[in-house]
Amino acid sequence: MRDFDEHNITEAVIDSMAQAKDARLRAVMTSLVRHLHDFVRDVELGFDEWNAAIDVLTRTGQTCSDKRQEFILLSDTLGVSMLVDAINHRMPEGATETTVLGPFFVAAAPELPSGADISGGIEGERLDVNGVVCSPDGRPLANATVDVWHADDDGYYDVQQPGLQSLVMRARFRTDREGRFSFTSIMPAYYPIPHDGPVGEMLQALGRHPYRPAHVHFMIAADGHETLITHIFDAESPYLDSDAVFGVKNSLIANFPRDDRSGQPQRSLTYRFGLKPLGHAVPSDRLTISTKGNL
Ligand code: BEZ
Ligand code: FE
Repeated sequence: MRDFDEHNITEAVIDSMAQAKDARLRAVMTSLVRHLHDFVRDVELGFDEWNAAIDVLTRTGQTCSDKRQEFILLSDTLGVSMLVDAINHRMPEGATETTVLGPFFVAAAPELPSGADISGGIEGERLDVNGVVCSPDGRPLANATVDVWHADDDGYYDVQQPGLQSLVMRARFRTDREGRFSFTSIMPAYYPIPHDGPVGEMLQALGRHPYRPAHVHFMIAADGHETLITHIFDAESPYLDSDAVFGVKNSLIANFPRDDRSGQPQRSLTYRFGLKPLGHAVPSDRLTISTKGNL
């Protein structure tokens, strides 16, 4: 076939993939080509715009390194990461909702005993965290691993501070027989996602800010259950309604109450995490939103 025009080229490209052995790949690429071509026709993409798009994607790749993943950030800021997360984490009642992993997780965080102070001596408002990990039916999950990580009160993670010699404001804990874990640290602040690259330029051009509301990250793994990746947001933080990566869910917003009795300002978080049992499918047309876990 030849003489392609703006109407018949889409079917020609789709036909060209007919021999692909992997049926799923063929289905995904067929849909991608259809939507991409429809988009180009819809906006009547100009050559200057096509060149600008190629330039942005090229620089997005060039900004990636072993320390930075600008493509994931692009996906995050376009809402694609949270859309993929939503499709892949349809939760039953009693299971905690999920959100993006983000770029600041470190697999090698130290395992510490429950109750440990993970602030590493960094100054800030004290924070006491008490959590319990359960099945959706309320059964406590013992010996679950709980990875936690958060920013400081200037909005920086340890890995963003070259002056810091060790991993701080992050650790791994194990739940006890009642599914409980606890730690102390400092209160994290809201912060901007990395915005000194192509994604930052895009946000600026679109009149968007780069901020995320203050939060603590959790990754919780227990036998027989799906690993939960989530964060808990401070109900008092700005940007809850304009998170740069669209990661906020009502069930993940918690009160971090203040206690000033000791003369030293102190905040706390008490939260129940529900893990989805493996193999528990929730049909897409019968979704239930998990109940708030803030105790
Ligand atoms: C974070 O919360 O650490 C994060 C998530 C997505 C993009 C950037 C940062
Ligand atoms: Fe974060």
